[in-house]
Amino acid sequence: MLHPHLDSVLLTADDIQARVRTMAHAIDADFAEDDRVHLVCVLKGAFMFLADLVRAMSARVTVDFIAVSSYAASTTSSGEVRVLKDLDARLQGRGVVIVEDIVDTGLTLRYLQALLRTRSPRVLRTACLLNKPSRRQVDVAVDYVGFDIPDRFVVGYGLDFNDRFRGLPYIATLAPANVIRERRPPAP
Ligand code: IMP
Repeated sequence: MLHPHLDSVLLTADDIQARVRTMAHAIDADFAEDDRVHLVCVLKGAFMFLADLVRAMSARVTVDFIAVSSYAASTTSSGEVRVLKDLDARLQGRGVVIVEDIVDTGLTLRYLQALLRTRSPRVLRTACLLNKPSRRQVDVAVDYVGFDIPDRFVVGYGLDFNDRFRGLPYIATLAPANVIRERRPPAP
């Protein structure tokens, strides 16, 4: 049975696995001429997507992690972005794919793409598992999109609400009553 704070399952584990495999093959094909692909995982939400993507790719991959945070710990993205953990390795001359969980307003991704471009990768592409087109505030290019989803707050498969539900193998919508009840004031 579904947790009482969740509304319904939007994407099953099978839906996700099948789509991630297709995305992995598309990335493999686009980087076929390269000797490796450097995947930059945006923590924390994309860790599960990265793990499945890497296992479904046949290209030689290297991975690195960056953690960013918008200031507000709520279901509305504030647009302000802080780098909490920077990459370990240089990007210069490399074929790089940003691996992100979800594009909502687009503000986080726009910031990240601009930041990583300053580090002179040879190619910079972006893979996002989920996309909420109706929420977009700024134009951002996403080369590999898993699923377009409606304007609902979703959890599971790495995505959290106040650090809960990350471990679910599927993606579910949060019950609206819980979004309101559990919303915390913005962090300082
Ligand atoms: P954006 O800057 O508005 O595009 O927000 C992107 C970030 O907001 C994502 O990387 C997530 O961390 C978070 N986010 C946006 N929508 C959701 C959601 O439905 N569930 C969980 N996190 C979300």
